[in-house]
Amino acid sequence: MIIQPSSNEKNLINLAVNVAGVHSPNPFWLASAPPTNTAYQLLKAFEAGWGGAVWKTLTNNPIVNVSSRYGAWGLGKHKLIGMNNLELISEKSVAQNCLEIAQVKAEFPNHAVVASLMFETKQEWQEAVKACEQAGIDGFELNFGCPHGMCERGMGSTVGQNPALVEEITSWVKAVATKPVFAKLTPNVTDIIPVGMAAQAGGADAVTLINTLNSVMGVDLQTLAPQPSVGGYSSHGGYSGLAVKPIALHMVSQLAMHPDFHLPISGIGGVGTWQDTVEFLALGAANVQVATAVMHRGFAIIKPMLSGLQAYLAEKQMASVSELSGVSVSKLVPWEALDLNYQVKARINTGTCIGCNLCYTVCDDAAYQAIAPALEGTIVPVILDEACVGCNLCSHVCPVADCITMLPSSTSVDLPAVSWKNHPKNPKN
Ligand SMILES: Cc1cc2nc3c(=O)[nH]c(=O)nc-3n(C[C@H](O)[C@H](O)[C@H](O)COP(=O)(O)O)c2cc1C
Repeated sequence: MIIQPSSNEKNLINLAVNVAGVHSPNPFWLASAPPTNTAYQLLKAFEAGWGGAVWKTLTNNPIVNVSSRYGAWGLGKHKLIGMNNLELISEKSVAQNCLEIAQVKAEFPNHAVVASLMFETKQEWQEAVKACEQAGIDGFELNFGCPHGMCERGMGSTVGQNPALVEEITSWVKAVATKPVFAKLTPNVTDIIPVGMAAQAGGADAVTLINTLNSVMGVDLQTLAPQPSVGGYSSHGGYSGLAVKPIALHMVSQLAMHPDFHLPISGIGGVGTWQDTVEFLALGAANVQVATAVMHRGFAIIKPMLSGLQAYLAEKQMASVSELSGVSVSKLVPWEALDLNYQVKARINTGTCIGCNLCYTVCDDAAYQAIAPALEGTIVPVILDEACVGCNLCSHVCPVADCITMLPSSTSVDLPAVSWKNHPKNPKN
């Protein structure tokens, strides 16, 4: 769908959101990361149009960073498809960060400023909450996610991988906080449900996910040093950016669809466009946060995100962001509930096919041998309907846009739906 941003100011939809009691003029928040390190940056970001920001994580722990610290994964002209970092949390004192938070809140009282926190003892957590509240903070995000550096000291993802600790620390903060508390979860777990439930049990008002994924970015083929290199050595780091979006969407939706999970979700992981935002919202997020995309292109990416989301909501005749939130959650079902009688077949557009034969090659070598080479006198490979299982591979590898489409098979559309649960081959039936 091609959506043109609306030029009619009067018809603009109010994008304001209320995420667990934190209000912001739009759903786009900067995630806790280098773009949210200073008052200077937040003021610039809010000027540019961002609705909120989660401050770079505050701590009392001594912080010393390595150089270099970011690794990048790009493909051809597409830089930073994925990024990994060995960076720790804020190097500044809590007092200095609070001074800057107060400065931002004085200039932008209606924008959301959330403090990300990571401490060791109950007393430290609770003192930081009080200091931030005095500075005028709108909410808290508990960093249970950083997968490097701080977890070795018993914080970050070490907490996020332990539901009992998540519940306990959340309850420490909730005992003193008068502002909403978000628990930020690590994706470095096999199942996000127990940690989400633990945050809920600890009294969290919302959860944020995902933080970064454990990763090693690569190895320099000349020096054989793993990347990013710190004097020829490296360490595992946190993976972020576009490449992590499918993992983030999965984890957000897993919590959103769980019948016993009831907290709002602030969605993060690879968001950089309004289209990404729509996907996160549809799968259950109440708003989105962005780090790597801003580190790639700067604060100005907010402009097309705002106008694109406006136009999309107008086109869908939705009056607010919250109307979109969660609309696709019920369309995600367990595998055994999918209709096994539903069939699609590949169709090649003979007018646009360039005869590269890639669809034939991959189907023959790596899929179901359902495409035959072009007949003499033509360049277009031939789909063998009876062998085509509708796997989509040919359409994914075809270099020409919309040349191969997948259409429902005429024989399957009239069949009654049958899922694995009631399928005759299921040994349980
Ligand atoms: C360089 C860098 C530093 C980060 N530092 C923090 C941090 O201090 N606290 C935190 O909660 N998350 C931190 N993150 C994680 C981000 O907030 C976010 O969860 C993650 O990058 C995924 O979002 P993205 O794909 O938009 O970057 C950091 C991410 C990056 C890339």
